Amino acid sequence: MNSNITGKVIVITGASSGLGEASARLLSSQGARVVLGARRKDRIQALADELTRGGGKAIAVTTDVTDRDQVKKLADAAAQTYGRIDVMINNAGLMPQALLEQLQIDEWDRMIDVNIKGVLYGIAAALPYMKEQKAGHFINVSSVAGHKVGPGFAVYAATKHAVRALSEGLRQEVKPYNIRTTVISPGAVSTELPNSITDPVAAERVRKFYADAAIPADAFARTVAFAIGQPEDVDINEVVFRPTRQEL
Ligand SMILES: NC(=O)c1ccc[n+]([C@@H]2O[C@H](COP(=O)([O-])OP(=O)(O)OC[C@H]3O[C@@H](n4cnc5c(N)ncnc54)[C@H](OP(=O)(O)O)[C@@H]3O)[C@@H](O)[C@H]2O)c1
Repeated sequence: MNSNITGKVIVITGASSGLGEASARLLSSQGARVVLGARRKDRIQALADELTRGGGKAIAVTTDVTDRDQVKKLADAAAQTYGRIDVMINNAGLMPQALLEQLQIDEWDRMIDVNIKGVLYGIAAALPYMKEQKAGHFINVSSVAGHKVGPGFAVYAATKHAVRALSEGLRQEVKPYNIRTTVISPGAVSTELPNSITDPVAAERVRKFYADAAIPADAFARTVAFAIGQPEDVDINEVVFRPTRQEL
């Protein structure tokens, strides 16, 4: 048990699979009270039930992060059930890849809505509670693509650069409220993320890359636990991690 995780109320968007699910499991095992948000209610409810049966505290709230009212309801549910919000993990995201010339404009819109506006709605929902508490912690999920751009993932990279930019602005602005801010930028981690790619050429390229390089989602969960578990006067602002075998 980590004493600075135990008892904390931690809201996680995109908790129905991959990085969010792995984080919920690890943080719950360390005594956190977790509030799980995603659209697939069956998945988050099953996870909440499993964590509760194991002696943890967890609730599931159906949440589409592109709907600001739903994200507010997620944060409100955390505060109503457990009395506060210690950590907001803005994790929900998708990565449909394709060359810009393919004009997948609906997919561009979707990435902007989920990967950028979803994070902003998470900030909007949790910040008032954290200001009031004069304590809190935002963890926003960027990517190696928040540092590197390449053919086929220009829009995804743009959204993840945006997450880093707004997180740095947030970091500076919330100093008066004793709030910590962390950006985590993973490399290839084995999750359902490549399933959001509709272009067959990009899908095959990414599938092969992930098959060769990706590491288990627990690597992300341990990074989250490291950031939260630090003493309150230590603010881990940015972590980039990759599979050891990943070059880019
Ligand atoms: N895996 C990697 O290699 C990698 C690398 C760098 C960064 N990331 C980032 O890590 C984050 C998590 O992705 P993952 O790898 O864990 O992929 P994943 O397994 O596909 O999980 C994505 C999660 O986001 C949720 N989500 C998608 N659209 C949503 C919406 N509109 N509202 C609410 N939730 C939504 C999904 O839940 P529902 O479908 O149930 O709503 C799911 O729980 C993303 O931001 C991704 O960009 C991943």
